[in-house]
Amino acid sequence: AMVKSRYFTKTQEFDGMPKVIDFKIVEEEIDDDLKDKEILGEAIYISVDPYTRYAVYYNVPPGAPIIGFQVIKVTKSKNPKYFVGEKIMVHGGWRTTCKVDDEQVWYKVDKISGIDTSVFVGALGMPGMTAYCGFLEICQPKEGETVFVNGCAGAVGNLVGQIAKIKGCKVIGCCGSDEKIKFAKSIGFDDVFNYKTCKDYPGILKKMAPNGVDCFFDNVGGRMSTDVLACMNVGGRISVCGAISAYNSKTLGQATMVQSYMARKQLLMRGFGVGQFKDKFPEALKHMIQWIQEGKLKIHETTTKGFENTPQAFIDMLSGGNIGKAVVKV
Ligand SMILES: NC(=O)c1ccc[n+]([C@@H]2O[C@H](COP(=O)([O-])OP(=O)(O)OC[C@H]3O[C@@H](n4cnc5c(N)ncnc54)[C@H](OP(=O)(O)O)[C@@H]3O)[C@@H](O)[C@H]2O)c1
Repeated sequence: AMVKSRYFTKTQEFDGMPKVIDFKIVEEEIDDDLKDKEILGEAIYISVDPYTRYAVYYNVPPGAPIIGFQVIKVTKSKNPKYFVGEKIMVHGGWRTTCKVDDEQVWYKVDKISGIDTSVFVGALGMPGMTAYCGFLEICQPKEGETVFVNGCAGAVGNLVGQIAKIKGCKVIGCCGSDEKIKFAKSIGFDDVFNYKTCKDYPGILKKMAPNGVDCFFDNVGGRMSTDVLACMNVGGRISVCGAISAYNSKTLGQATMVQSYMARKQLLMRGFGVGQFKDKFPEALKHMIQWIQEGKLKIHETTTKGFENTPQAFIDMLSGGNIGKAVVKV
């Protein structure tokens, strides 16, 4: 039989910051006759993430369904690993009903006491794996070291800060509002500043990290990120997670050259895509779940209700409207 689904597509290519009129809902009928290993499910939570804007990765052309992670409840399954009624985290796109194959499934959303389903698109989803693996694998933080995280109140950044505290580091952050500073301090950041209002970025960082920065987790990129290199210690490690300061701008941002700092301070700068750490996900999940249950890792989300508001939630996230993970409750 045919089942109804709705998905979002782009009406046109983005021009700068995305606008609500750049999106529209398309109604579709999906054949529920499944092939081997396929699963049909209804979306419960949809994730809105910066990479949807980052055309260098995945340019979804106008007309095509927009990609993204979601938690679905299985309504029909021809996959021996997943049963009707179970919840799974999948790369299913911005849609209400989806048919996915094995490759689009990340993992089962186990019933874990005290952990909400939405967390599986956040701390226990793609952003959580990004924070855990991207920080620990690349920065290799040691107890007592100083860590700096920009975008520190967002989905990935707030988790990196909390993981760094768990590892016994001193953690400095920066973000775009005073409300976010309050939030970051409430989850354990030692010191936080507002990059929009601070006049002397390297100056304030030097003051907050008088012993220098050993690990830098970069979500933002651009000139301010190069400023951080000036404050780094010899042997410092930089994990390049993203460059959100560039995603909505029409020109490439200007930054001072990095080579002189890199050579003089023997820095290691390494970029990553979370998928490269797939083998580490089970270990990462185990630790993240344990820390959440022990109360060491706090969960914070900004939730938008209603599938039709997914584009607005996405735009709000890109504009800094979210504290913690931006999620849509379908
Ligand atoms: N490498 C990977 O595999 C991977 C995986 C996931 C995410 N990422 C990257 O990680 C970063 C954070 O992603 P997320 O999901 O955690 O998003 P997020 O931080 O929850 O949301 C985006 C935040 O970026 C900040 N922002 C927007 N424009 C900015 C600008 N011009 N300069 C500085 N900050 C700006 C806003 O906070 P403020 O109010 O603080 O400005 C906004 O809340 C992104 O760069 C993303 O592409 C990479």
